Amino acid sequence: MRAEFAASLTFSSVRLTGTKSGCGGGGCGACTVMVSRYQPATKTFTHYSANACLLPLCQLHGAAVTTVEGIGSSKTRIHPVQERIAKAHGSQCGFCTPGMVMSTYALLRNKPQPTMEDITQALAGNLCRCTGYRPIVDGCRTFCQEANCCQANGDGNCCRNGDGNPDTPEENSSASNFKDFLPLDPTQELIFPPELILMAETANPETLTFYGERTTWVSPTSLEELVQLKAKHPKAPLVMGNTNIGPDIKFKGVLHPLIISPSRVKELFEVSETAQGVWVGAGCSLSELRSLLEKLVPQFPEEKTELFRALNQQLGNLGNQQIRNVATLGGNIVSAYPNSDLNPVLAVGNCKVSVISSGRREVPLNQDFFMGFGKTILNPEEIVVSVFIPFTRKGEFVRAFRQAPRKEASFATVSTGMRVFFSEGSRVVQDVSLYYGGMGPTTVSATKTCAAIIAKPWDDETLSKAYDILLDELALPPSAPGGKVEFRRSLTLSLLFKFHLEVLQKLRETNVIKDEVPEKISPLPREIQPGLQEFQAVSKDQSAQDPVGRPIMHRSAVGHATGEAVYCDDIPKTDGELFLGLVTSSRAHAKITAVDVSQALQLPGVVDVITAQDIPGKKFRPMTGQKEELMAETEVFGFFCFVVSPQVSCIGQIICAVVADTRAHAKRGVAAVKISYEDLPDPIFTIEDAIEKSSYYEPRRMIERGNVTEAFEKVDQIYEGEMRIGGQEHFYMEPQSMVVVPVGEEMEFDVYISTQWPSLMQEAVAETLGISSNRVTCHVKRLGGAFGGKVTKTSHLASITSVAALKTNRAVRCVLERGDDMLITGARHPVTARYKVGFMKDGRIVAADMEYYSNAGNTIDESTLVVEKILMHMDNVYNIPNLRGRGAACRTNLPSNTAFRGFGVPQGLMVVENMINDVAVVLGRPADEIREINMYRGPSVTHYKLEFSPDNFLRCWDECKLKCDYSARRKAVDQFNKQSRWKKRGMSIIPIKYGVAFAESFLNQAAALVHIYKDGSVLVTHGGTEMGQGIHTKMQQVASRELRIPTSKIYISETGTNTVPNTCPSAASFGTDANGMAVKNACEILYQRLEPMRKKDPNGSWESWVSAAFYEKISLSATGYFRGEDLYMDWEKMEGRPGAYFTFGVCCCEVELDCLTGDYRTLRTDIVVDIGRSVNPSVDIGQIEGAFMQGLGLFTLEELKFSPSGLLYTRGPSQYKIPAICDVPLRFNVYLLKDSDNPHAIYSSKGIGEPVVFLGSAAFFAIKDAVAAARSDSGLVGPFTLSSPATPERACLACNSQFTQKIPTSKPGSFKPWALDI
Ligand SMILES: Cc1cc2nc3c(=O)[nH]c(=O)nc-3n(C[C@H](O)[C@H](O)[C@H](O)COP(=O)(O)OP(=O)(O)OC[C@H]3O[C@@H](n4cnc5c(N)ncnc54)[C@H](O)[C@@H]3O)c2cc1C
Ligand code: FES
Ligand code: FES
Repeated sequence: MRAEFAASLTFSSVRLTGTKSGCGGGGCGACTVMVSRYQPATKTFTHYSANACLLPLCQLHGAAVTTVEGIGSSKTRIHPVQERIAKAHGSQCGFCTPGMVMSTYALLRNKPQPTMEDITQALAGNLCRCTGYRPIVDGCRTFCQEANCCQANGDGNCCRNGDGNPDTPEENSSASNFKDFLPLDPTQELIFPPELILMAETANPETLTFYGERTTWVSPTSLEELVQLKAKHPKAPLVMGNTNIGPDIKFKGVLHPLIISPSRVKELFEVSETAQGVWVGAGCSLSELRSLLEKLVPQFPEEKTELFRALNQQLGNLGNQQIRNVATLGGNIVSAYPNSDLNPVLAVGNCKVSVISSGRREVPLNQDFFMGFGKTILNPEEIVVSVFIPFTRKGEFVRAFRQAPRKEASFATVSTGMRVFFSEGSRVVQDVSLYYGGMGPTTVSATKTCAAIIAKPWDDETLSKAYDILLDELALPPSAPGGKVEFRRSLTLSLLFKFHLEVLQKLRETNVIKDEVPEKISPLPREIQPGLQEFQAVSKDQSAQDPVGRPIMHRSAVGHATGEAVYCDDIPKTDGELFLGLVTSSRAHAKITAVDVSQALQLPGVVDVITAQDIPGKKFRPMTGQKEELMAETEVFGFFCFVVSPQVSCIGQIICAVVADTRAHAKRGVAAVKISYEDLPDPIFTIEDAIEKSSYYEPRRMIERGNVTEAFEKVDQIYEGEMRIGGQEHFYMEPQSMVVVPVGEEMEFDVYISTQWPSLMQEAVAETLGISSNRVTCHVKRLGGAFGGKVTKTSHLASITSVAALKTNRAVRCVLERGDDMLITGARHPVTARYKVGFMKDGRIVAADMEYYSNAGNTIDESTLVVEKILMHMDNVYNIPNLRGRGAACRTNLPSNTAFRGFGVPQGLMVVENMINDVAVVLGRPADEIREINMYRGPSVTHYKLEFSPDNFLRCWDECKLKCDYSARRKAVDQFNKQSRWKKRGMSIIPIKYGVAFAESFLNQAAALVHIYKDGSVLVTHGGTEMGQGIHTKMQQVASRELRIPTSKIYISETGTNTVPNTCPSAASFGTDANGMAVKNACEILYQRLEPMRKKDPNGSWESWVSAAFYEKISLSATGYFRGEDLYMDWEKMEGRPGAYFTFGVCCCEVELDCLTGDYRTLRTDIVVDIGRSVNPSVDIGQIEGAFMQGLGLFTLEELKFSPSGLLYTRGPSQYKIPAICDVPLRFNVYLLKDSDNPHAIYSSKGIGEPVVFLGSAAFFAIKDAVAAARSDSGLVGPFTLSSPATPERACLACNSQFTQKIPTSKPGSFKPWALDI
């Protein structure tokens, strides 16, 4: 049997493709399955969720694995979990949904009536990039006994049950139908396979050995055998949870010829209590450890379990549920991570390990144990059998703290364990121990600091001396790996301060001291409450059968939840199919001197190497007037490539590709290609570098209204500021995927691909292969998310894959690993802006001058268009009479950036909103007042001379203020801040005006093809692609209304270039507008054609009319077309109509900030959006919530980090944090503005995909507001700079507390920082 480490291979080989792969490293949860085991000794079963991507198949001997397909199916019966997530609108693209379902399912198998806390814990490790989580939580909430309902009715009735909002029942409806759910009946669940029970009961345990291509796996049955094996093969790892070894093998290319699995050695799982504490088997999973400690705590006096509780607190935050279910205590200790959560706590608690090799010994877990990154004092042949966790003594307090980039499912930035011991009745310290993680290559002890505290009274004086010693003791060099040097150093102090406060509190509670404790710091609140989704119900006159305007479930929701929905990589492998891997540059600015592919070609399975020389057609893609090379130009001689045009301009640039029979072989082939470089001088990475060297893409743009220079002379005050906004990785859950299949004759190719723009892929493949477009058919079933990232970059990949298919004459599949996807395909543009604003004392802004620079990367892509979009939106909702904007896209040696939801608008608007905030601070007035003073009112004209009415925007503003009870809550926030020193609240209200459609007029056209078959069924095809935004659902609704038939008769199979040619991208929030009109047009034609049949047989049915029409020789197929409006922007005249209309919205956010760590929680978010008359309110609300969360990620969380040589560090969910369930606002209300009409789009609706991303900035401004309150306590007033994202690091440092003030700053330029500020 072959040892496989990748779940996707395992499951796809048995055609179970429901389990998805989003990262391969345990960080996204898309691959969650349930593992069940039987324990013959106790005759019990255990069920737990696990990440299939880290589950070695060999480890599963004797276990049952349940995938999403196993729990329910649309063909038989769907499981209640699947049903509820689907009905709650908990899926959009659906790629994360099977993982969500399985995490919830595993929870329910153990606890059929969970608490909300159980649910949020179970889902903490499951990422979703589309929904914003709220609907998933609400779907799962229905399993809880408590808190099922928002209680808004006050009478025990739920306002969410479809009967409408309690206030105005006839006008509003709930987005979800929470009635009539299938009951959860635990007795109906799958049973554990009896043959496995029999096997466990009867089988004679014997050593298992599995042989793989390069690895042998041995699983001994006794400790003795294990010891012998390890003695013989000291270098072979002991694989337990595989959460450390697995990622090393996958991502670092580590090869272990032999792996030893001790999972059947019972001594490693034993637990025994003694009078001093408890021995826990090193093989116990972290979840088992947690349950054990939870069980023990109530059995002993509180004073004895201080350490148990501290460990439990840390365990609750370590990794995620799936990781904790498999990762072991021994594995965690021996992995010796620098920022391990457990090791500092185990160390302060005087824990020890019992190890065995030729003999046994006990080793204390102290500073001598942890020797360096991944290194311990243990000898290679030693095995940890168990870990001793002692009881604490009376007068002993143990605490654990951590701070992480994201509150949950994230390695800590700094973790710590702290213990202090007092003799009875005294505040004098007898013993103290402080250990930190994240402050060096391994867990470190603050020994000198402890020495300064021992024998001293526990008070401010002692501690204030301790801070200074600690600062010296745990110093980090300014270029320390991991960066965040000032922040990490300040955390060591502020976490000690937290400990100080908690110990004081304890001493007071035990009557040892009488001092007033300065402040009790409670954890940030975390329970997610049910939110409101309000929208206008359809009119009473609308036919019950007409679905337009109703909250119809996403048409694939059940398919998503059952895993039946098919994505590109789910397409079965065809005979002889090859896999393509990309060889990319490891230098940012260099000449390639040689490419040696000889070793790669000799590897098993490798078929060929594809270079630019193999391209028969265009070797480049044209982009905004420039040529982008597909692969570095190389010329092959024998086994070597000698380079012809030898420059690379970023790390991650594609040089060539390897095709092999499997993914694993292609990957090995890629690693074996050797490239030699000669570095070129002066690479450009940052916007500042580019400005200094005038490195820009043309055209640069300028727009002005009024006379800015003159106006500055007349204003009362002028303020100048700067705003930096970081980039953002798309992080669509489904990576870039495609299969190119040569049909076999006349140069015809079928391309199955995950793209927003099938026609561009068709064109790219045709041009690259030098064939005409009619030989290439592009098929798009659905995308697992895209967000702008599956347009231009995908076309490059499709071109290269098609060359491989042509050259080998075999089907070729290319599915990027997450790390490669993040490295190669670019991100949202980072933007730096400078502004000068002139205003009057009364708050009126009279003049503003803005300069925007984006970091475009090494090729132009759509970067100049992004800059144009920024300039067109620079006014947001403000009527600034003298306004000037200049914008440039900077050419740098970073991977080329591309379109991302909002296309520059979120970055651009951030600048004007920040500027308004600054004006408010300078004037000492509330920011919302300054916003109101400057808003467009009455008939208005934009800075590019477009007339429009801001009335609906002003209605959104007023309604949002009203709905969120702005004034009263603002007062409450100020009151809270007066009473709290270390926690602050902040509040903001932020508007948006977003122009929908493409300024490039030709992109606004759309076409559709509608067939009616003789049985009355209807097949609709249109140019839009389904990527989670629900376009196919909406098109079904449109066709249903126009043809007057139920949606069940209408099917949409795919988007194909052979049915609807020359399509435009699904982007710019315009997909429904354009394609909806085309579908409507086609259906109207068909409906008209059937008119004679209806007249002839008024009592007939749809089927009878269709059948009659066929026999009457009436065509039952029609194309529909929508020309789109003639939009334009004339940059010479500085005028235009670049959008068809505006979508308006307003968002209010309130946050609570822990000033000592920078952690924050969004307490409440209220969003009011004008989207006209929504075609499908549940789909649109889904877009709003998802976009808000993506914006919240952009502005408060997500950070792309590059090394000083231009390498992207953040290449997976472990390093790059997108919002998780822990980031959902605790109360999240969305209201669609009523009675809004829009003559420019179908059925008076409005596009909504992109606008709301910017409203995530409300969380940023709320954090800034909270920081301002903290600063004012430190005596700092006036405007201050806070760059986006407002990460905990930035927020904490900006608070300028007594701890951050202690940290010396290193002079820029005096050291090489770990990461670039691009
Ligand atoms: C997505 C993700 C998130 C994570 N988040 C966190 C986090 O927030 N905080 C944190 O602290 N950790 C975190 N981790 C790390 C995780 O806790 C460790 O990888 C895990 O505890 C290691 O245990 P394992 O059983 O999986 O070890 P394995 O990967 O199976 O083995 C790891 C190493 O330990 C050795 N080993 C294992 N058992 C023994 C033994 N009994 N005796 C001697 N040597 C042994 C092996 O030889 C191997 O070298 C995370 C990991 C992942 C993948
Ligand atoms: S694919 Fe397994 S956790 Fe991401
Ligand atoms: S629906 Fe969750 S990632 Fe798309």
